[in-house]
Amino acid sequence: MPRAPHPMPLLLLLWLSLPHAQAAFPQDPIPLVTSDLQGSSPLSWFRGLEEDAVAAELGLDFQRFLTLNRTLLVAARDHVFSFDLQAQEEGEGLVPNKFLTWRSQDVENCAVRGKLTDECYNYIRVLVPWDSQRLLACGTNSFSPMCRSYGITSLQQEGEELSGQARCPFDATQSNVAIFAEGSLYSATAADFQASDAVVYRSLGSQPPLRSAKYDSKWLREPHFVYAVEHRDHVYFFFREVAVEESRLGRVQFSRVARVCKRDMGGSPRALDRHWTSFLKLRLNCSVPGDSTFYFDVLQALTGPVNLHGRSALFGVFTTQTNSIPGSAVCAFYLDDIERGFEGKFKEQRSLDGAWTPVSEDRVPSPRPGSCAGVGGAASFSSSQDLPDAVLLFIKAHPLLDPAVPPATHQPLLTLTSRALLTQVAVDGVAGPHRNTTVLFLGSNDGTVLKVLPPGGQSLRPEPIILEEIDAYSPARCSGKRSAQASRRIIGLELDTEGHRLFVAFPGCIVYLPLSRCARHGACQRSCLASQDPYCGWHRLRGCVSIRGPGGTDVDVTGNQESTEHGDCQDGATGSQSGPGDSAYVHLGPGPSLETPSSPSDAHPGPQSSTLGAHTQGKGVAWEGPSAVWTC
Ligand SMILES: *[C@@H]1O[C@H](CO)[C@@H](O)[C@H](O)[C@H]1NC(C)=O
Ligand SMILES: *[C@@H]1O[C@H](CO)[C@@H](O)[C@H](O)[C@H]1NC(C)=O
Ligand SMILES: *[C@@H]1O[C@H](CO)[C@@H](O)[C@H](O)[C@H]1NC(C)=O
Repeated sequence: MPRAPHPMPLLLLLWLSLPHAQAAFPQDPIPLVTSDLQGSSPLSWFRGLEEDAVAAELGLDFQRFLTLNRTLLVAARDHVFSFDLQAQEEGEGLVPNKFLTWRSQDVENCAVRGKLTDECYNYIRVLVPWDSQRLLACGTNSFSPMCRSYGITSLQQEGEELSGQARCPFDATQSNVAIFAEGSLYSATAADFQASDAVVYRSLGSQPPLRSAKYDSKWLREPHFVYAVEHRDHVYFFFREVAVEESRLGRVQFSRVARVCKRDMGGSPRALDRHWTSFLKLRLNCSVPGDSTFYFDVLQALTGPVNLHGRSALFGVFTTQTNSIPGSAVCAFYLDDIERGFEGKFKEQRSLDGAWTPVSEDRVPSPRPGSCAGVGGAASFSSSQDLPDAVLLFIKAHPLLDPAVPPATHQPLLTLTSRALLTQVAVDGVAGPHRNTTVLFLGSNDGTVLKVLPPGGQSLRPEPIILEEIDAYSPARCSGKRSAQASRRIIGLELDTEGHRLFVAFPGCIVYLPLSRCARHGACQRSCLASQDPYCGWHRLRGCVSIRGPGGTDVDVTGNQESTEHGDCQDGATGSQSGPGDSAYVHLGPGPSLETPSSPSDAHPGPQSSTLGAHTQGKGVAWEGPSAVWTC
């Protein structure tokens, strides 16, 4: 359903009813603008090949995006589609310039094993660059996963098929992540038909294959893998799982980051033979602080590293527990905070029904378990295979560390408790005319995309601002035979900043949206200003124009803007010159202040910010600062 009403105030009430709560729970910001797809190009979507009868029935069955230079690859059911982003201009149809087809040969066997024929396809779940020439693709292949290598430019198969086990799930509904690091594939998924053997696995490189301990709930307990990234000596995996340390409260999910050392060679025949000796994990703490901390513990999606306040950070979307009051939050985690967490104490359960507590340092063997052999404290051990048995036995029993990684700024960047749950996130860390503004794009399970300015920025904005809420789902373009209620769920977001657009994936189709539609403010400077959109700038002659980074648009930066020059505004609402069919309306919401990241007021945070706000909102008069330049 598009707008199922959520029990909005419940979370708030719950929060306020907590004893001695001092600060109120953050309220949902109101979107400044609400819009839909009307007026956008009817060709801006793709749901499979026209001649494909299965696509006509089932839709695309989107699996994942991969952007390589100016090519967007889309892995789906039985196909990988390639879109040339360079050739495709905004407003043009979304037509693949190439595609590969890889169908399962084993459909009958699959049906015999009790699966519906609707599931007996080859869902391509792994699509990663292997080297500069080749891609690795792995598909469920009717519950018999296989991998192949394809030429990046040709999309022609090269070499033999490989087993997909422990690289790709058997069932497309199971999660998985995979990346190459120094020539080896690091994958995390379920390695069996029943999806009971969760694994973090290394293979295909020159190093020995290694895996996580099998059926050991301390290592992994029903994990849902979300993201993997290489950083310095390690590969990091982000996931959620049933918390082993909170089992007294039932099946509570926690979000985690785990890491393994790239130079890990496994243990000795006496302990952890052919298993990781460096597998460690931490909890991610996405919570609203207060006398009683309120947690958003269920990781849904995570971005790659983006610059935030000068530090490298990952942006994640989290929700509350599934049986709880629905709510979502966005938290960022600095990479260096994550690294620091891995230096923390180990955690253990001393008695079977007891609580989990930190392990005292005098009981931890040396070198510190989980270290990379050959570096730091374990420098005297050339290989992990030479580590003392005591260290190997300790790390096997203690993969969990005590600290939880705190979110950047010690609180969520955004919480939402009265609307559809968030499912996806993409971040532009280099938006705005100076390429130093952060813009979040959030996908929801009801098909809406939110464009958000996080708190902070140069004006030290105290609250996030929802610049725009866009209903991106089109039943006519996107529906299929698959469950209707899941079809609105956004399951992928991919930014094409150069092309100034956002690709949005639903199970049945992909669609793209422009990052901004400044033209709808037309000649109305007030509306252009109030949009606070870092992608829009005010040009004295051309009105509200789109900014696509330096050199993208030669907007006049003269600063000679006159106070009387507030443009042609009708009804104080949207610019009268919005594009044909553009149904968007501009709503000047009660934002805390209307300063903009790149406006002159930014240079002087404080009262002037609200002066600008009052000016723009109340009197429709522009900022009259000495160097009024970029006003949006
Ligand atoms: C992407 O561009 C870089 C630099 O121009 C080039 O070295 C690389 O081969 C390209 N990759 C692909 C997949 O085309
Ligand atoms: C998470 O962070 C909050 C606020 O910073 C803190 O009060 C709480 O103790 C942290 N939780 C854990 C498990 O570390
Ligand atoms: C962005 O860069 C501009 C120009 O260098 C600078 O004036 C502004 O303070 C920067 N903004 C932020 C948020 O860092």
